Amino acid sequence: MKTLVIAASPRKNSYTNVLAKFAHDYAKEKKLDADLLDLSKTPLDYFRGYGEEYSKFTIETINAIKDKYQLLILATPVYDSGFSAALKNIFEHSNYKELKGKTAGFIIMASGKISSLLVQEQLNSLMNYFGIYSNPKAVHATMEDFDGMNLKSEAIQERIKELVDSSIDMAERLS
Ligand SMILES: Cc1cc2nc3c(=O)[nH]c(=O)nc-3n(C[C@H](O)[C@H](O)[C@H](O)COP(=O)(O)O)c2cc1C
Repeated sequence: MKTLVIAASPRKNSYTNVLAKFAHDYAKEKKLDADLLDLSKTPLDYFRGYGEEYSKFTIETINAIKDKYQLLILATPVYDSGFSAALKNIFEHSNYKELKGKTAGFIIMASGKISSLLVQEQLNSLMNYFGIYSNPKAVHATMEDFDGMNLKSEAIQERIKELVDSSIDMAERLS
């Protein structure tokens, strides 16, 4: 199962991206064919319209999301009661007819759980628009799950593993 974990915080010392890395490491442990896209290290160009010039990396990444990966694990911070602009940017670059039938799992990092549930709903709506199946078992993490930049919460570690496992299962059944 070709899997892309997207770490969708633009911040250098990002908690979201620590969670995404944990998911990617676990996927590799499970011998999944998984890649990690860290948007804080390798940002994509902002979408400025179709037919505009974009970097080679941006074009290749958007094409790979369309052609190569069946499972997307989307890890996003909550910014202003929404998911990150960096994540939305990926979907603005993508054609809604070309991602149909993929599966997505969500990891959401916020300071509180209320915004996090709202963001899960927003992600569900975005996936519905693209015809992507959403795993209902999202992971919701907060600062309390961290000790500095270390993911200390065993409960969140377990939930990320469950998210990866159940997303693979969903994607296999649906593809
Ligand atoms: C611009 C901005 C807006 C934020 N808005 C919210 C919010 O609406 N709700 C919330 O629970 N946390 C909010 N936060 C807190 C972040 O979700 C939290 O700091 C998280 O760790 C950010 O993820 P990151 O470290 O991967 O960037 C906001 C943080 C920033 C920088």
